Amino acid sequence: MPIALITGASKGLGRAVTHALAGRGWALVVDARGAQELGTAIQGLADVVAIPGDVTDPAHRLELADAASRPGGLDLLVNNASTLGTSPLPQLADYPLDELRAVYETNVIAPLALFQLLAEPLTNAGGTIVNVSSDAAVEAYPGWGGYGSAKAGLDQLTAVLAAEEPRLRCYAFDPGDMRTQMHQLAFPGEDISDRPEPRTVVPALLRLVDERPPSGRYRATDLLAGTRPSQAGVTR
Ligand SMILES: NC(=O)c1ccc[n+]([C@@H]2O[C@H](COP(=O)([O-])OP(=O)(O)OC[C@H]3O[C@@H](n4cnc5c(N)ncnc54)[C@H](OP(=O)(O)O)[C@@H]3O)[C@@H](O)[C@H]2O)c1
Repeated sequence: MPIALITGASKGLGRAVTHALAGRGWALVVDARGAQELGTAIQGLADVVAIPGDVTDPAHRLELADAASRPGGLDLLVNNASTLGTSPLPQLADYPLDELRAVYETNVIAPLALFQLLAEPLTNAGGTIVNVSSDAAVEAYPGWGGYGSAKAGLDQLTAVLAAEEPRLRCYAFDPGDMRTQMHQLAFPGEDISDRPEPRTVVPALLRLVDERPPSGRYRATDLLAGTRPSQAGVTR
C-alpha cells in the first residue's frame, strides 16, 4: 500500500487531499497544529496516523519523519501547510520583519527540512514531492510580497531539487483560489463564496501523483482543463 505524508491536513486543501488518498487505500501520516480539529478531520478514515504539531518545530518534524519512514520507502510528500502572514496583508514598506521570518520558516524552511529528513525513504520509493505554491509566487500583487516571495522561494527550491534528484518527481503545484480559511484571511470581510471548494482542486493534484509528468511547476487550472501534464508544465 502506498504511503504519503501530508502537512496541514485539518482543513482546506490538505484535508481534501487526505480524504481522497485515504479513499484510495493509501496509508497516511498527517499533521496540523490544532489537535482537536485534526482529529475531527480524519474521523472515520482507515490507516491515518495524526501527529499534531507545528512544521516549524524540528522535534515535530522528526516525529513526522519517523512515522512516515516505512521499510518500502515513502511514496509521496505533500508540503501543504502554510501561513499567509499578517492579515490584512501589509505593504512591503511596512512588513514586520519578524513576521516575514515566520512566514519563511513555515513556507520555505519547513518543506525543505522535511525533504532533508525524508530524502532516503523518498528515493527508495522513487517518490513524489508536491510543494503547494500559489500564483502569488509569480504575480506581483500589492500586499502579497511576504507570502508571495516565500512561495517563489519554495518554487525555486522545488526546481533545484528536481535538477539534483532525478530519481524523484518534484512539483510546485499552484492550486488557484479556493474557499478556505487562508483565503478568507487574505480577503478579510469579503464574500468569498464564489471561490471553488478545495475538493475541486484535488483531481489536479492526483494527476501529478498518478501520471508522474516531468518535474516542474504546474497549475491546477491547466491540469483540470485536461491539458497533457507534460504540456501544462513550467508556466512562468
Ligand atoms: N486558499 C487559496 O485560495 C490558496 C491559493 C493558492 C495557494 N494556496 C495554498 O494552498 C495550501 C493550502 O491552503 P488552504 O487555503 O487549504 O489553507 P487552510 O484552509 O488555512 O489550511 C491550512 C492547513 O495547514 C495547517 N497549518 C498551518 N500552519 C501550520 C504549521 N505551522 N504547522 C502545521 N500545520 C499548519 C492548518 O491547521 P492549523 O492552523 O491547526 O495548524 C490547516 O490544516 C497552502 O500551501 C496555501 O498557501 C491556497
